[in-house]
Parts: sequence; C-alpha cells; structure tokens
Amino acid sequence: MADLTTSERWGDLTGRRVLVRVDFNCPVAEVDGRLEVTDDFRIRAALPLFADLTARGASVVAATHFGRPQGRVDDRYSVEPVRRRLAQLCPGVELLENLRFSPGEEADDAAFGASLVDGVDYYVNEAFSASHRAHASIMVPPTLVPSAAGPALEREVATLGGLLESPARPFVAVLGGAKVSDKLGVVRVLAQRCDAVLVGGAMSFTFAAAQGHAVGASIVDAQRLAECVTLLAGGRIHLPIDARGLAAGEPFGRDGGPDGVREFGEEIPEGCVGLDIGPESASAFAQVLAGAATILWNGPMGVFEDARFAAGTEAVARAVASSGAVSVVGGGDSVAALHQFGLTDEVTFVSTGGGASLEFVEFGDLPGLRALRESPFA
Ligand code: 3PG
Ligand code: MG
Repeated sequence: MADLTTSERWGDLTGRRVLVRVDFNCPVAEVDGRLEVTDDFRIRAALPLFADLTARGASVVAATHFGRPQGRVDDRYSVEPVRRRLAQLCPGVELLENLRFSPGEEADDAAFGASLVDGVDYYVNEAFSASHRAHASIMVPPTLVPSAAGPALEREVATLGGLLESPARPFVAVLGGAKVSDKLGVVRVLAQRCDAVLVGGAMSFTFAAAQGHAVGASIVDAQRLAECVTLLAGGRIHLPIDARGLAAGEPFGRDGGPDGVREFGEEIPEGCVGLDIGPESASAFAQVLAGAATILWNGPMGVFEDARFAAGTEAVARAVASSGAVSVVGGGDSVAALHQFGLTDEVTFVSTGGGASLEFVEFGDLPGLRALRESPFA
C-alpha cells in the first residue's frame, strides 16, 4: 500500500486551525447520575497528535461520532462525557458535538462534510477504528483541504499490514464474538494466510451446526451454513470440542447462579444454550497458541462479562499473553477482556479498532485510508 502522508510536512502551524477526526466512541456508564467514560483508551490514543499539533502552534478542533443516534440530536448521545474526560487529559482541544446528530454524516453528504472544514486549514484522520465507515467526516475533508494520517492510525495500518504481509510462522488467528455473518469474510482470508484459525464464541455454533452437530438453543445463522462447510473444507479452522452453557429453560442473565450451568461435549442437547467454550477446547486452543510466532485475536470465546462464562476467554487471553508471539489484539470486547484479566501490557499491540481491523484484514484497505491517499492535496 502506498504510504500515507503525515502532518510533519506542514511544518509550523502558528495561526492555523486543524480538524482532527477522532474516534472517541468510548464506553460510558452512569456515575452519580451522569454518564462518565469508563475506558479512555481511544482518547489517550489521540493525545500524542494533539500535543504535536499544539506544540507547532495550531488550534485543534476534534470531531467524533458517539453511539448511533440515527441522524437526530439526542442528549443521550451527547459527547459531553467525552469532552469532560478530554479536558482532564488534554485541555485546550475543542471537541465538536456528535457528528451523527446530523443525517449528513452517515449519508456521506458533501455539504455536511464541507461544513466541517469551513475555516479549517488542515485535516488529520486519527480515527483508524472508524475508517471502515465511508461517512462524510472521513471521506469529504481530504477532497477539500490538505490532509494527513495521524500517527496512531499510521501505526495501526503498519502493524496490521505487516502481520498480513510477512508474519513470523506459525501464524495463528483467534476469532470469536457473536455475529458470524460479519466475520465469515475475514475467516476466509485468515484461513488462507494463517497456519491455524481458532474459532470460538457464539459464531462457532454456526460452524458446529454446519458440521452436523446438535447445538441446542445456541445462536445459529442458518443462512451461512453452506459457506461454513466450504471454509471448513480448507482444514485450517479449529472448532471447540466442548462448551459450557445453560440448561434448558434456565433464564439468561448476569445475576444467575451456578445451578443452571452445564458442560456439554460436541453435542448440545435440545433447549440448552452454549455460552462459552469448554475446558477441553480452552486447553486445545491454548496449546496451539503456545506454539505460535504471530497471533491475531479478535472476539471473546464466550459471554465473559458473566463470570460463569469467562473461563474460555480468560484461558485464551492468558495463552496469548504468555505465548512469546507477536500478538495483536483488536475489538472492544477482546480489549476489555485483556483489561479485565490485567493482561493489557502483556501483548504486543492493542488495536483501537474492532470492525475496522477486521475489514482491513479482509480487504487490505479501508475507505478512510483510500480517501487520504486519493486526496488531491496529498
Ligand atoms: C466502533 O466502536 O465500532 C466504531 O467507533 C465504529 O462505530 P460504528 O460501528 O457505530 O460505526
Ligand atoms: Mg462497531
């Protein structure tokens, strides 16, 4: 991929106004009656760029989406909690209100995009994790003002690009999470590039069903069975061989006790639901990871927010952390799991991107990166 332009070449920025597209779509929770950011990882990722631009004399205005308010002003999705956290970490940087309060953002509307750079001299995309969205704030500014990639975005692209181009082998991918439809494309690509692809999480039940196993009441995407059969024929995909879950009729919910928890083999009885990989799968996956030289992990192995179904994800997190491999972890849930188990510092690279990192792996490029490269000002 052609190199992305960075902002260094703009030199001194005294008196200049720079718009920075960030992704401050951070998790929030109510604390003392108001929303507060509970994980500021994505804000911290943009601080070096803000410091650099400010030191060069620029006034910086940042813009982000926050949740999915569907093109309408909705106080529940105000960036106010993010603004408060940003002001603590980096006073002096302005943050626009939620871009998705305008229908023009997701519609990639040219006039809305142009309004963002009104009075702005330069644009920087420091939102790798939103660069798979061809939205106005990502696509339009590079057509109108000199534009550059931020250092964090650049590092994400270099890390993921390097992983795909020349990984040390064995290269093992671990994929989990719920929606199989979002991930089959990336499974296909990784099954070609990796030595092994370990599939866990709810998505694994569609693969298990495709193999003819009983999956009980577990989540299955019936539209994707044939595709799973084709992918499995390649021989590189490893599936769980057991599961932990709930007995039939057992209500699902965080407050549930241990009584309804069951362990299953490869067949899950009618009405029962699988919610984590089982202990044998966890140790089989850990063994493959122990021998890996490169690891890409995206997506939890189960419903790890519920302590009853966290063991599989924890086993994978520990195996990734102790592997000695170059390890790249992406996706909000996997990153949250690393935090939860205190392993964040034990991996090589934590991506701010979930969907974006998967789309980058699948397609080798993203709309937002293309917009930067195709900028007439590049
Ligand atoms: C994310 O958190 O996944 C990114 O910020 C993109 O958000 P979106 O999935 O709502 O487009
Ligand atoms: Mg997303």
